[in-house]
Amino acid sequence: MDKITVIGAGHVGATAAQRIAERELAREVVLVDILEGVPQGKALDQWESAPVEGFDTMVTGAQSYEDTAGSGVYVVTAGLARKPGMSRDDLLQKNTQIIAGVAEQIKLHSPDAIIVMVTNPLDVMAYVAKEVAGFPRERVIGMAGILDTARFRSFIAMELNVSVEDIQALVLGGHGDSMVPIVSTVSVGGIPLSQLMSADRIEALVERTRKGGGEIVKLLGTGSAYYAPSSGAVQMVEAIARNKMRVLPCAAWLEGEFGLDGLFLGVPCKLGRGGLEGVIEVELSDEERSALEASAAAVRGTMEMLQL
Ligand code: NAI
Ligand code: 2OP
Repeated sequence: MDKITVIGAGHVGATAAQRIAERELAREVVLVDILEGVPQGKALDQWESAPVEGFDTMVTGAQSYEDTAGSGVYVVTAGLARKPGMSRDDLLQKNTQIIAGVAEQIKLHSPDAIIVMVTNPLDVMAYVAKEVAGFPRERVIGMAGILDTARFRSFIAMELNVSVEDIQALVLGGHGDSMVPIVSTVSVGGIPLSQLMSADRIEALVERTRKGGGEIVKLLGTGSAYYAPSSGAVQMVEAIARNKMRVLPCAAWLEGEFGLDGLFLGVPCKLGRGGLEGVIEVELSDEERSALEASAAAVRGTMEMLQL
């Protein structure tokens, strides 16, 4: 891929740009922010690490979308985090305006691009970008499930003192308290988790996963997680740039899958050169299905508050 753009040179965006460059997923990474000098400064700093780290992906910074023209993928992290005194509704309206503006520019300068949405509220911001850009569902995908699943996997690895690499897990649904860890799919080196951990401990780790974002916010004091979120976004970019056909939990626009229609929700997705190459349906227990439906209802509730 020639060019990948990251919108928003804050914590998640800058870290994502660095990971993309270090993995040489494109010839050039463009980092865009409204702040004068910040994307240029971070990009130059990253590029100056290239001789030591040994990558040839050029990192540049810009305020203008003209510099991003022809990008194959846009990772969108622009937006505000919630500040004291600001309601979720305020945040929703502010980030809606930002994402609508970003999506218009992407459409104008790179009409064939794939958008990987990261900005919160994730499932709804992916919808805003899809609506405004007018892209098909193959080309707007949200990042959250990889992060939520990675958190679950890392907690299981700590508890069992085993390699994270051997843990497979799946967290579906919206990116919020209503997310749905599918415990029946969790395995450790092929062994079902239920054979290695008590039901009580599994439930405790599920609960920690649900509150994983808040745990980091509390520890940091200001701001939210960005190392693991940027890893999640870059795993999606890599699957697309290298046409890997990875099966990853991502937020996809549903058209009847899982009995749901007309919203973004975290589901197992196949990612390759075309972006979303397919949604993979899995058998769910009655309990898991109703949890997924409740999660969909929570996402729809936020969609209804939108003023597009
Ligand atoms: P941050 O505040 O460090 O960075 C956001 C950046 O966006 C700032 O540099 C700001 O100047 C920039 N920005 C604002 N308006 C812009 C515009 N119109 N065009 C270009 N840039 C603009 O925030 P951070 O930590 O990087 O988080 C970014 C977003 O990602 C937040 O909405 C956060 O909630 C979300 N997030 C989502 C996750 C997920 O799992 N989906 C995980 C972690 C964060
Ligand atoms: C997280 O889960 C804030 O969505 C972000 O860390």
